[in-house]
Amino acid sequence: APVKTDNAELIVPEGVYAETVLSVTHYTDHLFRFRMTRPAGFRFRSGEFAMIGLMVEGKPIYRAYSIASPSWDEELEFFSIKVPNGPLTQHLQRIQPGDKVLMRKKPTGTLVLDALTPGKRLYMFSTGTGIAPFASLIRDPETYEKFEEVILTHTCRDVAELKYGFDLVDEIKNHEFLAEVVGDKLKHYATVTREDYPFKGRITDLIENGKMFTDLGVPALDPEIDRGMICGSTAMLKDTKALLEKAGLTEGANNKPAEFVIERAFVG
Ligand code: A2P
Repeated sequence: APVKTDNAELIVPEGVYAETVLSVTHYTDHLFRFRMTRPAGFRFRSGEFAMIGLMVEGKPIYRAYSIASPSWDEELEFFSIKVPNGPLTQHLQRIQPGDKVLMRKKPTGTLVLDALTPGKRLYMFSTGTGIAPFASLIRDPETYEKFEEVILTHTCRDVAELKYGFDLVDEIKNHEFLAEVVGDKLKHYATVTREDYPFKGRITDLIENGKMFTDLGVPALDPEIDRGMICGSTAMLKDTKALLEKAGLTEGANNKPAEFVIERAFVG
C-alpha cells in the first residue's frame, strides 16, 4: 500500500515495511545511530540482521544491517558507518526524525544464542560497526540466563569511535530492570589501534600475546567453558577465527550449534 509521507507518496514494495525514524545520533564523521518504529508483527532474535533501505531516485537500495536493539525493545536501533559515496549510506546519513526507512520483512543471521552450545563465558569480539549485533545481545536478558560471564570486546581506530559502546554499557547500568539482570556479569574491553589509549592494539594481537586475558583477569580460552561470537571486517573474522580454532573451539551455525559463530559487519 502507498504510504503517505510529509513530502512524497512513497510506494512500499511487497514484503517490505516502511518505518518512521524516531531519533538520529551522530558520533563521528563516519558513525551514526538511528532508531525507528518497530512494525507490530516484526519478530527477530537478538543478534540477527535485516535488509534496510531507502528509495533513491525511485528505486529501493538495501544493505544488510544488524539490528542493534534487543528483541524485547518496542523500537528498532541501527548503528551505521557513513561512506561519502556509499550507495545507501550517503543518503541514510542524512535521515531525520519523521523520515521513512524501508526494511525487508525477514531477519536472519548466525550471531544468535541458539547457534552456540552451552558454556560459561561468552566472548563477543567486534571491530567498528561490528559491535551492532552485540549491542542487541548485551541488552537481552537471555544472554545472562545462558552465560555466567559476558565479555564484549570492541576495537576501533580512534577513541571517538568507541563512544557508542560506552554509552550502551552506561545505559545498561542505569536501566530499571537490565541493571539487575546484568549485574557484574558484563565486561566491556575497548581498545584502539591508531591513537594513544590505555588499551592499545588489535584484539587478535591482544589474544595472541595474552594481554586481553591479563587485563580482564580471566584464564586462557578453553573449549569446555568459552564461547565466542565474532563480527568485523573479512580480515578480522579470518584472523580471530584462526585464534579460536587454535584454542580448540569449532565454528557453529543455526542448524549445527558449536563453540563460536561469525558474521561480517556491514561494509560500504
Ligand atoms: P588497524 O588500525 O591496525 O587496521 P577497519 O575500519 O579497517 O575495519 O578497522 C577497524 C578496527 O579493526 C581497527 O582498529 C583495525 O586495526 C582493526 N583490524 C583491522 N584488520 C584486522 C584484523 N585482520 N584483525 C584484527 N583487527 C583488525
